[in-house]
Amino acid sequence: MPLTNKHLLPESLRSDFPIITNDLVAGRPLVFLDNAASTQRPRQVIELITRVYEHDYANVHRGIHTLSERSTELYEQAREKIAVFLGAAHAREIIFTQGTTGSINLVARSWGETNLRPGDEILTTVMEHHSNLVPWQQVATKTGAILRHVPLTDDGRLDMSAFQKLLSERTKLVAVASVSNTLGTINPVAEIITQAHAVGALVLVDAAQSVPHLATDVVKLDADFLAFSGHKMLGPSGVGVLYGKEQLLDAMPPFLGGGSMINEVRLDGFTPAELPAKFEAGTPPIVPAIAMSAAVDYLQSVGLAAIHRHEMALTQLAYDALSQIEGLRILGPAPEHRAGLISFAFERIHAHEFAQVLNDQFGVAVRAGHHCTQPLHKLLGISASTRASFYLYNRPEEIDRLVEGIRIVQAMFAPQGRRRTRPQ
Ligand code: ALA
Repeated sequence: MPLTNKHLLPESLRSDFPIITNDLVAGRPLVFLDNAASTQRPRQVIELITRVYEHDYANVHRGIHTLSERSTELYEQAREKIAVFLGAAHAREIIFTQGTTGSINLVARSWGETNLRPGDEILTTVMEHHSNLVPWQQVATKTGAILRHVPLTDDGRLDMSAFQKLLSERTKLVAVASVSNTLGTINPVAEIITQAHAVGALVLVDAAQSVPHLATDVVKLDADFLAFSGHKMLGPSGVGVLYGKEQLLDAMPPFLGGGSMINEVRLDGFTPAELPAKFEAGTPPIVPAIAMSAAVDYLQSVGLAAIHRHEMALTQLAYDALSQIEGLRILGPAPEHRAGLISFAFERIHAHEFAQVLNDQFGVAVRAGHHCTQPLHKLLGISASTRASFYLYNRPEEIDRLVEGIRIVQAMFAPQGRRRTRPQ
Protein backbone atom coordinates (compact mmCIF):
# COMPACT_ATOMS: atom_id res chain seq x y z
CA MET A 1 0.00 0.00 0.00
CA PRO A 2 1.62 3.33 -0.98
CA LEU A 3 2.26 5.71 1.88
CA THR A 4 0.05 8.80 1.73
CA ASN A 5 -0.43 11.76 3.98
CA LYS A 6 -3.63 10.31 5.32
CA HIS A 7 -1.54 7.68 7.15
CA LEU A 8 0.76 10.26 8.66
CA LEU A 9 0.47 12.85 11.39
CA PRO A 10 1.09 16.47 10.41
CA GLU A 11 4.74 17.55 10.27
CA SER A 12 3.85 20.64 12.30
CA LEU A 13 3.63 18.46 15.41
CA ARG A 14 7.43 18.13 15.37
CA SER A 15 7.81 21.75 16.40
CA ASP A 16 6.36 20.80 19.81
CA PHE A 17 9.53 18.77 20.48
CA PRO A 18 12.49 21.11 21.03
CA ILE A 19 15.13 18.37 21.16
CA ILE A 20 13.96 16.87 17.88
CA THR A 21 14.08 20.14 16.01
CA ASN A 22 17.03 21.84 17.73
CA ASP A 23 19.63 19.15 17.91
CA LEU A 24 22.29 18.34 15.38
CA VAL A 25 24.20 15.09 15.62
CA ALA A 26 27.10 14.46 13.24
CA GLY A 27 26.27 17.85 11.72
CA ARG A 28 22.84 16.66 10.59
CA PRO A 29 19.40 16.98 12.15
CA LEU A 30 18.96 14.33 14.78
CA VAL A 31 17.01 11.23 13.74
CA PHE A 32 15.75 9.83 17.00
CA LEU A 33 14.74 6.19 16.60
CA ASP A 34 15.24 5.03 20.19
CA ASN A 35 11.71 5.64 21.40
CA ALA A 36 11.15 2.18 22.85
CA ALA A 37 13.91 2.97 25.34
CA SER A 38 12.62 6.47 26.15
CA THR A 39 10.72 9.09 24.17
CA GLN A 40 11.30 12.83 23.97
CA ARG A 41 9.02 15.37 25.64
CA PRO A 42 6.86 18.02 24.01
CA ARG A 43 7.05 21.64 25.09
CA GLN A 44 3.68 21.23 26.87
CA VAL A 45 5.19 18.69 29.29
CA ILE A 46 8.38 20.69 29.80
CA GLU A 47 6.37 23.87 30.44
CA LEU A 48 4.15 22.19 33.01
CA ILE A 49 7.22 20.93 34.87
CA THR A 50 8.69 24.44 34.93
CA ARG A 51 5.37 25.98 35.96
CA VAL A 52 4.91 23.59 38.88
CA TYR A 53 8.45 24.20 40.16
CA GLU A 54 8.03 27.96 39.74
CA HIS A 55 4.55 28.28 41.26
CA ASP A 56 3.04 25.19 42.86
CA TYR A 57 5.72 22.93 44.32
CA ALA A 58 5.64 21.51 47.83
CA ASN A 59 5.38 18.03 49.28
CA VAL A 60 2.00 16.35 48.81
CA HIS A 61 -0.49 15.07 51.42
CA ARG A 62 1.49 16.66 54.23
CA GLY A 63 1.09 20.38 54.64
CA ILE A 64 -1.95 22.51 55.21
CA HIS A 65 -0.26 25.45 53.53
CA THR A 66 -1.26 26.77 50.14
CA LEU A 67 1.57 25.27 48.10
CA SER A 68 1.11 21.82 49.56
CA GLU A 69 -2.61 22.01 48.85
CA ARG A 70 -1.91 23.09 45.28
CA SER A 71 0.64 20.41 44.55
CA THR A 72 -1.56 17.76 46.21
CA GLU A 73 -4.45 18.81 44.02
CA LEU A 74 -2.33 18.64 40.86
CA TYR A 75 -0.92 15.26 41.89
CA GLU A 76 -4.38 13.81 42.50
CA GLN A 77 -5.74 15.37 39.30
CA ALA A 78 -2.98 13.56 37.40
CA ARG A 79 -4.11 10.29 38.99
CA GLU A 80 -7.72 10.99 37.94
CA LYS A 81 -6.63 11.80 34.41
CA ILE A 82 -4.63 8.58 34.09
CA ALA A 83 -7.59 6.57 35.44
CA VAL A 84 -9.81 8.03 32.70
CA PHE A 85 -7.07 7.51 30.07
CA LEU A 86 -6.93 3.79 30.98
CA GLY A 87 -10.67 3.37 31.39
CA ALA A 88 -10.19 2.41 35.06
CA ALA A 89 -13.24 2.39 37.33
CA HIS A 90 -11.59 4.41 40.16
CA ALA A 91 -8.60 6.67 40.58
CA ARG A 92 -7.65 4.65 43.69
CA GLU A 93 -6.74 1.80 41.32
CA ILE A 94 -3.89 3.95 39.98
CA ILE A 95 -0.67 3.66 41.99
CA PHE A 96 2.26 5.91 41.15
CA THR A 97 5.49 3.95 41.14
CA GLN A 98 9.03 4.52 39.94
CA GLY A 99 8.29 2.93 36.56
CA THR A 100 7.19 -0.33 34.97
CA THR A 101 9.91 -2.19 36.87
CA GLY A 102 8.70 -0.72 40.17
CA SER A 103 5.11 -1.67 39.34
CA ILE A 104 5.94 -5.29 38.51
CA ASN A 105 8.12 -5.65 41.59
CA LEU A 106 5.28 -4.30 43.71
CA VAL A 107 2.96 -7.05 42.49
CA ALA A 108 5.61 -9.77 42.69
CA ARG A 109 6.55 -8.87 46.24
CA SER A 110 3.18 -7.90 47.66
CA TRP A 111 0.74 -10.18 45.83
CA GLY A 112 3.25 -12.92 44.96
CA GLU A 113 4.81 -13.45 48.35
CA THR A 114 1.38 -13.44 50.02
CA ASN A 115 -0.47 -15.72 47.62
CA LEU A 116 1.98 -18.14 46.04
CA ARG A 117 2.60 -21.56 47.59
CA PRO A 118 5.09 -24.32 46.69
CA GLY A 119 4.02 -25.96 43.42
CA ASP A 120 1.91 -22.99 42.24
CA GLU A 121 2.83 -21.86 38.76
CA ILE A 122 3.64 -18.46 37.32
CA LEU A 123 3.36 -18.41 33.55
CA THR A 124 5.37 -15.89 31.63
CA THR A 125 6.89 -15.89 28.13
CA VAL A 126 10.31 -16.20 26.56
CA MET A 127 9.98 -12.76 24.96
CA GLU A 128 9.69 -10.84 28.26
CA HIS A 129 11.85 -7.92 29.28
CA HIS A 130 14.08 -8.76 32.25
CA SER A 131 11.75 -6.70 34.43
CA ASN A 132 8.98 -9.21 33.81
CA LEU A 133 11.26 -12.19 34.40
CA VAL A 134 13.62 -11.43 37.28
CA PRO A 135 10.96 -10.37 39.87
CA TRP A 136 9.12 -13.65 39.19
CA GLN A 137 12.34 -15.62 39.49
CA GLN A 138 12.93 -13.94 42.84
CA VAL A 139 9.42 -14.61 44.11
CA ALA A 140 9.54 -18.21 42.84
CA THR A 141 12.74 -18.80 44.82
CA LYS A 142 11.14 -17.37 47.96
CA THR A 143 7.80 -19.16 47.72
CA GLY A 144 8.59 -22.46 46.00
CA ALA A 145 6.37 -21.49 43.05
CA ILE A 146 7.37 -22.76 39.61
CA LEU A 147 8.08 -20.47 36.68
CA ARG A 148 7.02 -21.58 33.20
CA HIS A 149 7.51 -19.84 29.86
CA VAL A 150 5.36 -19.70 26.76
CA PRO A 151 7.55 -20.38 23.68
CA LEU A 152 7.49 -18.60 20.31
CA THR A 153 6.31 -19.55 16.87
CA ASP A 154 8.93 -19.48 14.12
CA ASP A 155 7.91 -15.96 13.13
CA GLY A 156 8.30 -14.54 16.64
CA ARG A 157 4.74 -14.60 17.96
CA LEU A 158 3.52 -16.31 21.10
CA ASP A 159 2.74 -19.96 20.54
CA MET A 160 -0.84 -19.87 21.72
CA SER A 161 -1.37 -23.61 21.53
CA ALA A 162 1.63 -24.07 23.84
CA PHE A 163 0.13 -21.38 26.09
CA GLN A 164 -3.10 -23.34 26.34
CA LYS A 165 -1.19 -26.52 27.20
CA LEU A 166 0.86 -24.76 29.87
CA LEU A 167 -2.19 -23.18 31.46
CA SER A 168 -3.77 -25.24 34.27
CA GLU A 169 -5.40 -24.87 37.69
CA ARG A 170 -1.85 -24.73 39.05
CA THR A 171 -1.32 -21.44 37.18
CA LYS A 172 -1.87 -18.60 39.63
CA LEU A 173 -0.57 -15.73 37.55
CA VAL A 174 0.21 -15.01 33.91
CA ALA A 175 2.73 -12.18 33.39
CA VAL A 176 2.94 -11.05 29.78
CA ALA A 177 4.02 -8.05 27.72
CA SER A 178 1.34 -6.55 25.50
CA VAL A 179 4.06 -5.61 22.98
CA SER A 180 7.55 -7.13 22.89
CA ASN A 181 10.25 -4.47 23.23
CA THR A 182 12.56 -6.52 21.00
CA LEU A 183 10.38 -8.35 18.48
CA GLY A 184 7.71 -5.68 18.28
CA THR A 185 5.09 -8.45 18.43
CA ILE A 186 1.64 -7.35 19.56
CA ASN A 187 0.47 -10.14 21.82
CA PRO A 188 -3.18 -11.27 22.01
CA VAL A 189 -3.57 -10.03 25.56
CA ALA A 190 -7.39 -10.06 25.59
CA GLU A 191 -7.41 -13.73 24.59
CA ILE A 192 -4.69 -14.54 27.14
CA ILE A 193 -6.70 -12.86 29.89
CA THR A 194 -9.92 -14.70 29.00
CA GLN A 195 -8.15 -18.06 29.00
CA ALA A 196 -6.20 -17.35 32.18
CA HIS A 197 -9.34 -16.29 34.02
CA ALA A 198 -11.04 -19.50 32.92
CA VAL A 199 -8.56 -21.47 35.07
CA GLY A 200 -8.70 -18.93 37.91
CA ALA A 201 -5.33 -17.26 37.19
CA LEU A 202 -4.71 -13.54 37.41
CA VAL A 203 -2.96 -11.63 34.63
CA LEU A 204 -0.35 -8.90 34.88
CA VAL A 205 0.22 -6.99 31.65
CA ASP A 206 3.57 -5.31 31.08
CA ALA A 207 2.16 -2.48 28.97
CA ALA A 208 5.32 -0.35 28.82
CA GLN A 209 5.45 -0.64 25.02
CA SER A 210 1.70 -0.42 24.38
CA VAL A 211 0.13 2.29 26.57
CA PRO A 212 2.12 5.04 24.75
CA HIS A 213 1.08 3.74 21.32
CA LEU A 214 -2.25 1.90 21.44
CA ALA A 215 -5.52 2.81 23.13
CA THR A 216 -5.87 0.86 26.39
CA ASP A 217 -9.06 0.03 28.29
CA VAL A 218 -8.30 -1.96 31.41
CA VAL A 219 -11.95 -2.71 32.14
CA LYS A 220 -12.72 -3.98 28.65
CA LEU A 221 -9.50 -5.97 28.74
CA ASP A 222 -10.34 -7.24 32.24
CA ALA A 223 -6.65 -6.94 33.18
CA ASP A 224 -5.93 -7.63 36.83
CA PHE A 225 -2.69 -5.62 36.89
CA LEU A 226 -1.17 -3.41 34.22
CA ALA A 227 2.18 -1.63 34.42
CA PHE A 228 3.76 1.17 32.37
CA SER A 229 6.23 4.07 32.54
CA GLY A 230 5.95 7.83 32.10
CA HIS A 231 9.17 8.28 30.11
CA LYS A 232 8.06 6.07 27.24
CA MET A 233 4.90 8.15 26.70
CA LEU A 234 6.27 11.71 26.46
CA GLY A 235 6.42 12.11 30.24
CA PRO A 236 9.36 12.28 32.64
CA SER A 237 11.48 9.39 33.84
CA GLY A 238 11.25 8.31 37.48
CA VAL A 239 7.52 7.77 37.42
CA GLY A 240 5.28 4.95 36.31
CA VAL A 241 1.92 3.46 37.06
CA LEU A 242 0.55 0.26 38.44
CA TYR A 243 -3.11 -0.25 37.65
CA GLY A 244 -4.71 -2.96 39.77
CA LYS A 245 -8.28 -4.03 40.35
CA GLU A 246 -9.45 -2.47 43.57
CA GLN A 247 -10.38 -5.70 45.37
CA LEU A 248 -6.95 -7.18 44.56
CA LEU A 249 -5.00 -4.12 45.69
CA ASP A 250 -7.17 -3.88 48.80
CA ALA A 251 -6.30 -7.41 49.83
CA MET A 252 -2.55 -6.98 49.25
CA PRO A 253 -0.16 -5.92 52.01
CA PRO A 254 1.90 -2.75 51.54
CA PHE A 255 5.14 -3.30 49.65
CA LEU A 256 7.32 -0.51 51.06
CA GLY A 257 6.92 0.83 54.58
CA GLY A 258 7.34 4.44 55.68
CA GLY A 259 5.52 7.75 55.67
CA SER A 260 2.21 8.23 53.86
CA MET A 261 1.32 4.54 53.63
CA ILE A 262 -0.04 4.36 57.17
CA ASN A 263 -3.18 5.29 59.07
CA GLU A 264 -1.53 4.96 62.44
CA VAL A 265 1.88 3.96 63.73
CA ARG A 266 2.51 2.66 67.23
CA LEU A 267 5.84 1.51 68.63
CA ASP A 268 4.67 -2.08 68.21
CA GLY A 269 3.07 -1.87 64.80
CA PHE A 270 1.03 0.07 62.26
CA THR A 271 -2.22 0.05 60.38
CA PRO A 272 -1.91 0.72 56.64
CA ALA A 273 -3.63 3.56 54.84
CA GLU A 274 -6.39 3.04 52.30
CA LEU A 275 -5.69 2.86 48.56
CA PRO A 276 -3.83 4.34 46.82
CA ALA A 277 -1.68 5.74 49.66
CA LYS A 278 -1.04 2.21 51.01
CA PHE A 279 1.35 1.63 48.09
CA GLU A 280 2.94 5.08 47.93
CA ALA A 281 5.37 5.12 50.86
CA GLY A 282 7.62 8.14 51.21
CA THR A 283 7.65 11.28 49.11
CA PRO A 284 6.43 10.25 45.67
CA PRO A 285 7.76 11.48 42.31
CA ILE A 286 5.57 14.58 42.65
CA VAL A 287 6.40 16.65 39.59
CA PRO A 288 6.97 13.68 37.26
CA ALA A 289 3.54 12.34 38.22
CA ILE A 290 1.92 15.73 37.66
CA ALA A 291 3.71 16.03 34.32
CA MET A 292 2.22 12.73 33.19
CA SER A 293 -1.09 14.55 33.00
CA ALA A 294 0.34 16.86 30.31
CA ALA A 295 1.69 13.83 28.45
CA VAL A 296 -1.75 12.21 28.56
CA ASP A 297 -3.35 15.45 27.35
CA TYR A 298 -0.90 15.58 24.48
CA LEU A 299 -1.45 11.95 23.44
CA GLN A 300 -5.21 12.42 23.62
CA SER A 301 -5.12 15.61 21.59
CA VAL A 302 -3.24 13.80 18.79
CA GLY A 303 -5.30 10.63 19.26
CA LEU A 304 -4.00 7.11 19.90
CA ALA A 305 -5.61 5.76 16.72
CA ALA A 306 -3.84 8.39 14.60
CA ILE A 307 -0.54 7.72 16.41
CA HIS A 308 -0.87 3.99 15.76
CA ARG A 309 -1.70 4.59 12.08
CA HIS A 310 1.36 6.83 11.73
CA GLU A 311 3.66 4.32 13.40
CA MET A 312 2.30 1.47 11.31
CA ALA A 313 2.96 3.42 8.12
CA LEU A 314 6.57 4.06 9.18
CA THR A 315 7.01 0.46 10.27
CA GLN A 316 5.77 -0.87 6.94
CA LEU A 317 8.11 1.50 5.13
CA ALA A 318 11.10 0.46 7.23
CA TYR A 319 10.21 -3.23 7.07
CA ASP A 320 9.96 -3.18 3.26
CA ALA A 321 13.29 -1.35 2.91
CA LEU A 322 15.16 -3.45 5.48
CA SER A 323 13.85 -6.66 3.91
CA GLN A 324 15.74 -5.71 0.74
CA ILE A 325 19.09 -5.56 2.50
CA GLU A 326 21.09 -8.70 2.01
CA GLY A 327 22.50 -10.25 5.14
CA LEU A 328 20.15 -8.30 7.43
CA ARG A 329 17.92 -10.45 9.61
CA ILE A 330 14.74 -8.83 10.90
CA LEU A 331 13.69 -10.23 14.27
CA GLY A 332 10.00 -10.86 14.85
CA PRO A 333 6.86 -11.07 12.79
CA ALA A 334 5.47 -9.39 9.67
CA PRO A 335 4.29 -5.78 10.04
CA GLU A 336 0.63 -6.71 10.56
CA HIS A 337 1.53 -8.44 13.84
CA ARG A 338 3.93 -5.84 15.17
CA ALA A 339 3.97 -2.41 16.74
CA GLY A 340 6.26 0.46 15.70
CA LEU A 341 9.69 -1.05 16.19
CA ILE A 342 12.07 -3.26 14.27
CA SER A 343 15.13 -5.05 15.63
CA PHE A 344 17.62 -6.55 13.26
CA ALA A 345 20.97 -8.29 13.21
CA PHE A 346 23.84 -8.91 10.81
CA GLU A 347 25.87 -12.04 10.91
CA ARG A 348 29.24 -10.33 10.67
CA ILE A 349 28.78 -6.94 12.24
CA HIS A 350 28.34 -6.38 15.93
CA ALA A 351 25.25 -4.36 16.84
CA HIS A 352 27.23 -1.88 18.99
CA GLU A 353 29.68 -1.16 16.22
CA PHE A 354 26.84 -0.68 13.84
CA ALA A 355 24.82 1.64 16.05
CA GLN A 356 27.90 3.70 16.87
CA VAL A 357 28.64 4.41 13.23
CA LEU A 358 24.98 5.11 12.48
CA ASN A 359 25.07 7.73 15.21
CA ASP A 360 28.49 9.21 14.55
CA GLN A 361 28.19 9.49 10.78
CA PHE A 362 24.47 9.76 10.12
CA GLY A 363 23.03 11.27 13.30
CA VAL A 364 20.68 8.31 13.66
CA ALA A 365 20.02 7.20 17.24
CA VAL A 366 19.08 3.53 17.59
CA ARG A 367 19.53 1.10 20.44
CA ALA A 368 22.04 -1.73 20.27
CA GLY A 369 22.50 -4.61 22.67
CA HIS A 370 20.20 -7.21 24.14
CA HIS A 371 17.47 -4.67 25.04
CA CYS A 372 17.02 -6.36 28.46
CA THR A 373 15.89 -9.56 26.74
CA GLN A 374 18.93 -11.79 27.07
CA PRO A 375 16.99 -15.08 27.16
CA LEU A 376 15.15 -14.10 23.96
CA HIS A 377 18.40 -13.18 22.18
CA LYS A 378 19.93 -16.47 23.28
CA LEU A 379 16.95 -18.33 21.88
CA LEU A 380 17.37 -16.46 18.59
CA GLY A 381 21.03 -17.48 18.53
CA ILE A 382 22.46 -13.97 18.81
CA SER A 383 23.95 -11.93 21.63
CA ALA A 384 22.76 -8.53 20.47
CA SER A 385 20.68 -6.69 17.89
CA THR A 386 20.07 -3.17 16.67
CA ARG A 387 16.63 -1.67 17.23
CA ALA A 388 14.88 1.21 15.49
CA SER A 389 11.71 2.30 17.29
CA PHE A 390 9.31 4.94 16.01
CA TYR A 391 7.00 7.50 17.53
CA LEU A 392 4.64 10.23 16.55
CA TYR A 393 7.35 12.78 15.60
CA ASN A 394 9.28 10.48 13.23
CA ARG A 395 8.78 10.87 9.51
CA PRO A 396 9.43 8.89 6.32
CA GLU A 397 12.62 10.82 5.45
CA GLU A 398 14.12 9.54 8.70
CA ILE A 399 13.49 5.95 7.67
CA ASP A 400 15.33 6.79 4.44
CA ARG A 401 18.28 8.10 6.49
CA LEU A 402 18.28 4.94 8.59
CA VAL A 403 18.26 2.72 5.52
CA GLU A 404 20.89 4.79 3.71
CA GLY A 405 23.04 4.64 6.84
CA ILE A 406 22.61 0.89 7.19
CA ARG A 407 23.62 0.30 3.58
CA ILE A 408 26.74 2.42 3.89
CA VAL A 409 27.76 1.03 7.27
CA GLN A 410 27.21 -2.49 6.00
CA ALA A 411 29.42 -1.79 3.01
CA MET A 412 32.10 -0.39 5.34
CA PHE A 413 32.14 -3.50 7.49
CA ALA A 414 30.95 -6.44 5.51
CA PRO A 415 33.56 -6.94 2.77
CA GLN A 416 36.35 -7.71 5.20
CA GLY A 417 34.02 -9.67 7.42
CA ARG A 418 35.43 -7.63 10.25
CA ARG A 419 33.97 -8.42 13.59
CA ARG A 420 34.78 -6.16 16.46
CA THR A 421 33.08 -6.59 19.76
CA ARG A 422 32.34 -4.33 22.62
CA PRO A 423 31.30 -5.08 26.16
CA GLN A 424 27.49 -5.42 26.55
N1 ALA B 1 12.93 -1.10 28.43
C1 ALA B 1 13.61 -0.18 27.60
C2 ALA B 1 13.96 -0.75 26.25
O1 ALA B 1 13.42 -1.70 25.82
C3 ALA B 1 14.74 0.46 28.28
O2 ALA B 1 14.83 -0.22 25.58
